[in-house]
Amino acid sequence: MSLDGRRVAVVTGASSGIGEALARRLARDGWHLVLMARREDRLAALATELHGEYEVCDVTERESVERAAAAVLERHPRINLLANSAGIPGRKGFTEIDDEHLERVLRTNYLGGVWCLRSFLRGLEAAAPAAHVVNIVSVAGTVAFAPSGPYSAAKHAQLAFSRATAAELQPRGIRVHTINPGFVETEGFPQRTALRSAFFRRAVITPDRVADAIADAIENNHRELFVPRFYFGCEADDPVNAWAFNRRTNPLGARLNALFSSDIGHFDVPDMTDVVPEAYELVEHGLLNDEDFRDFMFGNAVRFWGEVNPDFFKGTVVEKQAAEVLASAKGAARV
Ligand SMILES: NC(=O)c1ccc[n+]([C@@H]2O[C@H](COP(=O)([O-])OP(=O)(O)OC[C@H]3O[C@@H](n4cnc5c(N)ncnc54)[C@H](OP(=O)(O)O)[C@@H]3O)[C@@H](O)[C@H]2O)c1
Repeated sequence: MSLDGRRVAVVTGASSGIGEALARRLARDGWHLVLMARREDRLAALATELHGEYEVCDVTERESVERAAAAVLERHPRINLLANSAGIPGRKGFTEIDDEHLERVLRTNYLGGVWCLRSFLRGLEAAAPAAHVVNIVSVAGTVAFAPSGPYSAAKHAQLAFSRATAAELQPRGIRVHTINPGFVETEGFPQRTALRSAFFRRAVITPDRVADAIADAIENNHRELFVPRFYFGCEADDPVNAWAFNRRTNPLGARLNALFSSDIGHFDVPDMTDVVPEAYELVEHGLLNDEDFRDFMFGNAVRFWGEVNPDFFKGTVVEKQAAEVLASAKGAARV
């Protein structure tokens, strides 16, 4: 098959959602696509549309992956991109989910990507240093909530796999990119109807947006990316700020040292004090108490800078107050 110099991309989970959107985006960018999933009718239609190819494959079955990879490698000895997007939801806690589904979540979301990487490694090495692996993990790979514990656990494993192989394969000229989407409206994850919180529903994005971020990560060599970036926002009045202080829901009862900060540099915030009343709405709405608010606005920032450089606040208008916070921090450390 003549590729006219086009790069070859293998996309798993290409029969719907993020994988399908990624395949379309890559085809537009001039890649030659090999689509993989279980539903042949979907794959055949998309492959025809994108002038690509497909291999039916169940990523939970190691032999199925090896067979599909061998067939692809025979046609394309060099693989420039393996994108692991095959995945299924969990939506139940460890005590409720049935045994088979729990195993399936782990075998699809974690082991599926492992078998694919191992089976396509020869092709990726042949294309190195122009070789990439993209693992579609999730924000759920970085935080865990009770209602989707088994899914989160599988995604945590997949995240560790992705980070570990990024380090392991870099010397071999293969770049591994980790993509952590938030809520994306897809067939398997119908977030707009499944999410009960109106606040979270506002954060739902399209698979195309994830596909664009992946294309950007490949071209600009981003190693790990959250899509959308919303999750690390620390806007003055963002209710998500309160999560940092919530010992009841954070793992190990942790209280994170969030800093009021990211409004700095915003074009519409020339003076940080302008947005302080907005930030105080978190207290007025019962999301933070006064002590949390004091730490968010001042104490955490003083400890962050002052513990690195005790003179950091010398000569500023808050020198005295900062010294008090640092003195009490030292006292606490001695205890
Ligand atoms: N949507 C979200 O909110 C969201 C957020 C964060 C991360 N993610 C992750 O993004 C990835 C893609 O999910 P999506 O949202 O695009 O869902 P989706 O539309 O349901 O797509 C899932 C894809 O995985 C394939 N698949 C499932 N089990 C498979 C198996 N055993 N072997 C081969 N292919 C299999 C499905 O195809 P067949 O059924 O034809 O096999 C389908 O193409 C998943 O890893 C998911 O965990 C999704």
